[in-house]
Amino acid sequence: MATQPIIKLHDGNLMPQLGLGVWQASNEDVVTAIEKALETGYRHIDTAAIYQNEVGVGNALAATPVPRDELFITTKLWNDDQDNPQQALEESLKKLKLDYVDLYLIHWPEPRQNKFVEAWRKLLKLKEQGLAKSVGVCNFHIPHLQRLLDETGSAPVVNQIELHPLLQQRQLHAWNATHNIATESWSPLAQGGEGVFEQDVISKLAAKYEKTPAQIVIRWHLDCGLIAIPKSVTPKRIVENFNVFDFRLDKDELSQIAKLDAGKRLGPDPDTK
Ligand SMILES: NC(=O)c1ccc[n+]([C@@H]2O[C@H](COP(=O)([O-])OP(=O)(O)OC[C@H]3O[C@@H](n4cnc5c(N)ncnc54)[C@H](OP(=O)(O)O)[C@@H]3O)[C@@H](O)[C@H]2O)c1
Repeated sequence: MATQPIIKLHDGNLMPQLGLGVWQASNEDVVTAIEKALETGYRHIDTAAIYQNEVGVGNALAATPVPRDELFITTKLWNDDQDNPQQALEESLKKLKLDYVDLYLIHWPEPRQNKFVEAWRKLLKLKEQGLAKSVGVCNFHIPHLQRLLDETGSAPVVNQIELHPLLQQRQLHAWNATHNIATESWSPLAQGGEGVFEQDVISKLAAKYEKTPAQIVIRWHLDCGLIAIPKSVTPKRIVENFNVFDFRLDKDELSQIAKLDAGKRLGPDPDTK
């Protein structure tokens, strides 16, 4: 199998470009999903305190023969804990049975509570303490990111946002890139592919490359320079979603998929959430 692509973050740390998302996976299901993923070659797992499965993720990680320094584990600070990220991260680490996470993200800016700049300063301290190797954000729009830059002088390494063929977020992706912030796609399969997998362009490319629609969509993320974290608890799909390193989409194919952008959000709008 071809080697998996790695992204260099602006703090120098390395992040596998493809990972396993575990939102809506139970503490039980996540153990078998992560076991299968690690056996398949995944090294990057994306969880969050609010997913309530950090204990299951920790159980899976405790059982794996894969060394800790080969793993990339992300968790996230929930909105109610923006006043006290240190306590929240320590609780997450306890559940995960880890000494540090590779990436700690502010889950939502929650502009109405207006605490995200102070929370960000505290995340920078957690990085200094070594409890998180890297720190970043999710669901930040340009004005939220601009405030972090203006008020703290420090940019997140990653902005994890809803991004799939129906919501391509080109302006935000370009802004992130200009500021050396890697863009990570959540719901990369548009939550199971409805409205995407059956599109003509996706079916044609699937036939051309002898791949599934999900593999075409994951390849599109990688070829756009995005980090992607497709979620699955189904062993066959976990393997399928990782079998994408032996082909590439060309420029013309990427622009055909670009035409699917419909500005269609499946999750909440960060400005009004
Ligand atoms: N930061 C944030 O605010 C935020 C928000 C949402 C999500 N996330 C992260 O992003 C991850 C991915 O997003 P998501 O879980 O919303 O959606 P997704 O990865 O786009 O789609 C997951 C859905 O697709 C199905 N699926 C997976 N592989 C498939 C395949 N090869 N063929 C057909 N169906 C397939 C899964 O079913 P099965 O599991 O039944 O196989 C599941 O129903 C989450 O798990 C989470 O880690 C972050």
